[in-house]
Amino acid sequence: MCPLRKSITVSGKASGKTIKTILIPNDLPSNISLMHFLIDNGITVASSCGGVGSCKKCLINRSLLSCQITLEEFMATSILGHVEISYL
Ligand code: FES
Repeated sequence: MCPLRKSITVSGKASGKTIKTILIPNDLPSNISLMHFLIDNGITVASSCGGVGSCKKCLINRSLLSCQITLEEFMATSILGHVEISYL
């Protein structure tokens, strides 16, 4: 049995490069935010509010606050599992 189910690919708009592909383990807490998942996997995510949704610096894919969506919600709505961060 495969312990991994899906992956997220992170790219930088500024660099035009794929930064990292992160495999998502099955045993993550269902309420982990996308922002914290990215940070835990070595991706720099800007934030000055600590994830309460007020600074708007954690923006991904042009319009999504990564601190305000869980990894599970993101994967349910993202067919490709792609995260683009403008300043990377
Ligand atoms: S971290 Fe501040 S709005 Fe997301």
